[in-house]
Amino acid sequence: MNVSTKVDVAFQRCIRQGCATTYAIDEVRVACGQCGELLDVVYDWDRATPPGQLSDFEQSWGRRFDPLALSGVWRFYSLLPFVPADKIVTVGEGQTVLQNSASVADYIGLTSGEAHLQYEGLNPSGSFKDNGMTAAFSHARSIGAKRAACASTGNTSASLAMYSSVTRLMKAIIFIGSGKISYGKLSQALDYGALTVQIAGDFDDAMQRVKEVTKKLGIYLVNSVNPFRLEGQKSVMYRVLEGLRWEVPDWIVVPGGNLGNSSAFGKAFIELKELGLIDRIPRLAVINAAGANTLYELVEKRGLSWNDGAPQTDIVDAYYTELDEQHKRASTIASAIEINRPVNLTKCLRALEFCNGVVREVSDQQILDAKAQVGAGGFGCEPASGASVAGAKLLLEEGVISPDERVVCILTGHVLKDPDATVAYHTSDQEKFDSVLGSRGVGDASFANRAVAVGNDLEEIVRVIEHHS
Ligand code: F0G
Repeated sequence: MNVSTKVDVAFQRCIRQGCATTYAIDEVRVACGQCGELLDVVYDWDRATPPGQLSDFEQSWGRRFDPLALSGVWRFYSLLPFVPADKIVTVGEGQTVLQNSASVADYIGLTSGEAHLQYEGLNPSGSFKDNGMTAAFSHARSIGAKRAACASTGNTSASLAMYSSVTRLMKAIIFIGSGKISYGKLSQALDYGALTVQIAGDFDDAMQRVKEVTKKLGIYLVNSVNPFRLEGQKSVMYRVLEGLRWEVPDWIVVPGGNLGNSSAFGKAFIELKELGLIDRIPRLAVINAAGANTLYELVEKRGLSWNDGAPQTDIVDAYYTELDEQHKRASTIASAIEINRPVNLTKCLRALEFCNGVVREVSDQQILDAKAQVGAGGFGCEPASGASVAGAKLLLEEGVISPDERVVCILTGHVLKDPDATVAYHTSDQEKFDSVLGSRGVGDASFANRAVAVGNDLEEIVRVIEHHS
């Protein structure tokens, strides 16, 4: 494929207005050395070779024998040219599906044909993280890293562990909290041979520690504070546009945890607009779980905003102090987004500003009901992903989204990631459901598909099937 091996078209830059310190592309940092803010990867588009129009990418469809054309991330290389092509590490990530779902449209309240589900769970490690990991891993390889680490609620760690085991280029070290990591995700990290460090604390604690440890030991950090991760995650939006034959939808709805996706999506649209590759910008809806609702609280309740590149840090500090004083910890069945201190907060504010975005919170009950609807009408998803469909439904009810708008819900993780939550929802054993969800005040499983118990008796089995079908 026609890719440049030159990397001098890209550099890193602090996102804080008034600072904007720049760093070379091969510097390894997760924050600005001057002001501590997040860094962006920035391109000199005059020296890069972006496409003339998005449909130019269709030329790569016929070259699937080339791993870089097969990858759903790297076939858009000209929109993320930060690494030499010969250093790219790909395992065929990004072969995902955009489903037009009539039943989910019905559930949300949209006109039939307007609800689209982007299944990022179909990635090799079962979540959207592979889009970002291929990019961070490639950068790590390009600077000669031997060890890579992350803190994780389970999917980032599964992805890192997989890239490490498939390529054997780096040792993976993962930090998890002692709380709820789903068994599907934990089993991946263990099976792929990652050094798994379970610390006494939750994800927010693990995140804090992994930052300290990687700095101390010179280990490459692949959490989404790493700006290269987000470059890869931009490709989710390119594939959504591709799936819509390059038409821009009205809404992108995404669950919010550490806020890497929402930040990456915003950056994708900022760049596409700047390059004249799209003529309008979709609106962005970021959906928190009610038990981990920092973004909702800060943006919708306390007025935090991008504020021209100088967000009101006093609002954030005051909120975090309150959380500490009240010993408040994140708590939701959607363990993937059980995060109270999202590391990409400021980048997400920028995305919300650019995309005229909104933030909402949804309960665990709403999340699981929406998840059951996705499963009943498609390939299914893990609980956190259900938040996007639940959020779209809420925004329809509020009249913020209108029924004839085109909505894309991002389904971030595979249905098999968290079978406990799914079985607890559907099981006929109400006691088990209550034991998993009861402490969160969840009522009942409105769309439960309960197993039917029968004796080992042919006539009884036949009777039951005739009765139920
Ligand atoms: N959905 C799933 C399935 C996730 O695993 C995550 C994040 C999110 C949504 C939230 O995405 O952070 O970009 O806002 N999981 C991280 C992890 C935190 O460690 O696997 P975000």
